[in-house]
Amino acid sequence: MPVDGEVPWSKAPHTEAKHKIFRAYLARWYPILLSENGYPSVTYAEGFAGPGVYKDGSPGSPVIAIQALLGTPELANTKKTTRFVFVDNDPRCVKILGEQLRANFPVRPRPLDLMPVSVVEGTCAEAFEPALEAVGAWHQPILAVFDSWGNAPVPYRLIRRLAQNPSSEVVVTFMPQHFTRFVSTLGGEVDAVFGHDSSWREVADIQDGSKKKGFLLGKYRKMLKEAGFQFLLDFELVTKKGESLYLIFGTNHRRGLEKMKQSVWEVDAQYGIGFRDPKDEFGEALFDLDDPQLAPLERMLVERLSSRESVRVETLREFSLFSTVYREQHVIPALVQLRERNSISCDRPRIERAAMVKLL
Ligand SMILES: C[S@@+](CC[C@H](N)C(=O)[O-])C[C@H]1O[C@@H](n2cnc3c(N)ncnc32)[C@H](O)[C@@H]1O
Repeated sequence: MPVDGEVPWSKAPHTEAKHKIFRAYLARWYPILLSENGYPSVTYAEGFAGPGVYKDGSPGSPVIAIQALLGTPELANTKKTTRFVFVDNDPRCVKILGEQLRANFPVRPRPLDLMPVSVVEGTCAEAFEPALEAVGAWHQPILAVFDSWGNAPVPYRLIRRLAQNPSSEVVVTFMPQHFTRFVSTLGGEVDAVFGHDSSWREVADIQDGSKKKGFLLGKYRKMLKEAGFQFLLDFELVTKKGESLYLIFGTNHRRGLEKMKQSVWEVDAQYGIGFRDPKDEFGEALFDLDDPQLAPLERMLVERLSSRESVRVETLREFSLFSTVYREQHVIPALVQLRERNSISCDRPRIERAAMVKLL
């Protein structure tokens, strides 16, 4: 892998799943934001864009993002503006990305003024904000993807500005391992990743590996909340070898959260990838939506019910949406299983949204 490694590089096992999630989310994001009643323009921007291609010839995320737009039938004739901004600090990546964009889209798919594409060499910290400025992206929705090697060197000020920009969202790749491994050698500038809060360094006092990960993710989530993102979704992509990568999504729109969840749950075991809710203390893999593993959700529901008398099913659906990686639709099947095991009771014969449930 770069810094010194070759460009392009071989695709890591998580990458296929990550791209599938991006594709699925973008197929929803563009038509919602650019609908008739939506915004006049949007910007898709990457702070760590990569070369746009992998060693096996498969496309990188910048190419995928443009393909997703062109593959959206609702927008075939749109007159709205779609901007693309790609920043990378490795000159080799910048050069290859330019070549890849030309090779994948030999004929300009949309007029220049309706689809400016900007490829910029520089660090995310220094070049991203000016690059957005240069294409006039601010004050219109921005989907900012920060897919670094997991160290997320993104200034807090930038995250805050994005959180305050209309209908803007972030997707961040986060590798807790990076911080745990180098906690004693990483300088003060890394505190900026956590919103200039050095308390992430307390991770050095935690012994248990999975608690360390949970602690750091908690710190990162806290930073995103303080920056202004109301709804967060973080999940762990896990390969069969047990290597993991976290994606953290921040939005201020319930619909964004719902659509990202829907996209995540579409990733199936096809690529040998599972995913986990980092907040589930048992760290159980979730796999496949057709046959979702509901045990982690059942545990979380039982915990949620233990502090209340009776709770409305709709309240548990909201809990699931906002506080777990599960979708609202998973709650009733989980409650049905809990009732079959006599763990809960329900005031109606059928467990439905308006019903009340209670721990037995
Ligand atoms: C994980 S790769 C991106 C992969 C790409 N998003 C994809 O899915 O095809 C990370 C990229 O970040 C670049 N990079 C590393 N540190 C950077 C920094 N501080 N600013 C900008 N780019 C950086 C690397 O050159 C590399 O191309």
